[in-house]
Amino acid sequence: MLPQQCNCAIEKRLRDDAHEMSELLLITGCAQLVTLSGPAPRRGPALNDLGIIHDGALLVRDGVVAAVGPRRKVEGLVARNGKYRRAEKLDLGGRVLLPGFVDSHTHLVSPASRASEYEQRIAGASYEQIARSGGGILFTVRKLRAASSDALKQRALAALKNFAAHGTTTLEAKSGYGLDAASELKILRLHRQLLELQPLDITSTFLGAHVVPPEFRRRSNGADAYVDSLARKLIPAVARAGLAQFCDVFCDRGAFTVAQARRILTAGRACGLEPRLHAEQLARTGATRLAVQLNAASADHLEKINREDISALAVSNVVATLLPGCCFHLGLRDYAPARALITAGAIVALASDFNPGTSPTLNMQMVLSLACTQMRMTPAEALAAATINAAYSLRRHDRIGSIEVGKYADLAVFDLADYREIPYYFGVNHCWLTLKRGKIIFSRVNQ
Ligand code: NIG
Ligand code: FE
Repeated sequence: MLPQQCNCAIEKRLRDDAHEMSELLLITGCAQLVTLSGPAPRRGPALNDLGIIHDGALLVRDGVVAAVGPRRKVEGLVARNGKYRRAEKLDLGGRVLLPGFVDSHTHLVSPASRASEYEQRIAGASYEQIARSGGGILFTVRKLRAASSDALKQRALAALKNFAAHGTTTLEAKSGYGLDAASELKILRLHRQLLELQPLDITSTFLGAHVVPPEFRRRSNGADAYVDSLARKLIPAVARAGLAQFCDVFCDRGAFTVAQARRILTAGRACGLEPRLHAEQLARTGATRLAVQLNAASADHLEKINREDISALAVSNVVATLLPGCCFHLGLRDYAPARALITAGAIVALASDFNPGTSPTLNMQMVLSLACTQMRMTPAEALAAATINAAYSLRRHDRIGSIEVGKYADLAVFDLADYREIPYYFGVNHCWLTLKRGKIIFSRVNQ
């Protein structure tokens, strides 16, 4: 069923006051209000429990959810309570309302696309072959070092606008295309600047250990020397400047070993940066076991994990962040074993891995489609993975990832009447309205 035409006052407001909302907002007309309320993180069968309210309503005060429930109940509360009566009304016309997507793995700041490598791969070259011949991450590093902060900023701002237009309200952003102190700091400072320039929340991760930089490759013990300089100098400098919350390592074949990753993440933790890991994407290296040993916030990719890794994740609090956009874009068949992870009881999250090399998409709706058809996650599991569990991996589940009293009104409205249609009608942007802390930051109302 298609939603009815919207009969609300949004159009007028957009004209009148350039998207400014009053401090009280009553949202009605939700065919489904998908709350995802309840304990976080979600494991096993709880991933299917979306807490859907049919014909639900939401009262937002100062950007925070003040009441949520069946329309009659919330409208009754507003009518009875004098201080709520002046609430501005927003009727969604029978659409689906969700918590905004939390994209917990992105490489937001990058200088250019790698469309030529895409073509090379289609012709038969593998990701690793291209990387070994000086392309891949090193191509992006060369370009980023040469790019001005302003050019990078304009590109990131355009991407962030697009994230919001697809229903994402919070994202994690990694450095890792600089690989020298000046360029890594350029990226991390940009993350901080971007917070002031646009409405999305950005959680910053230091990924100095993405690959060994070119200037260290010429030395015989270059990788260890680079790891040493990260651990002794750059990580403490990043932490001192408060430029990152997390520290990440690409621990995989052709990047960093488990021993090197342990050294870096331990140094990060000593400075207050929580560990995350790119683990087991290209080969099984033992990175997942390291993530569990270190009680990392998240182990990401996991395409090559085995049964022992799944069991270890299942009894840990490490979030298994799956990135199906990579397999899709690289044309690979072996997606991460989402079903086995969910059955075992691991905390599964989904993210875009937005980056120019392996996953040039920021569309979490497409990520849901891939999770459903390629990894056999149910639409409900995929949604919980892309919101509340992703929020848990960023340590933000107390404020975002679900629609509950006291949490931020970070919301995405889809031009559909059933949340399952988001992954079902794949390849199309269904986002109709995005709100960040109760303010409209994207709207398709006039289109
Ligand atoms: O998450 N695997 C390492 N990092 C990225 C790819 C980066 C690139 O190829 O530019 C990833 O897939
Ligand atoms: Fe990545």
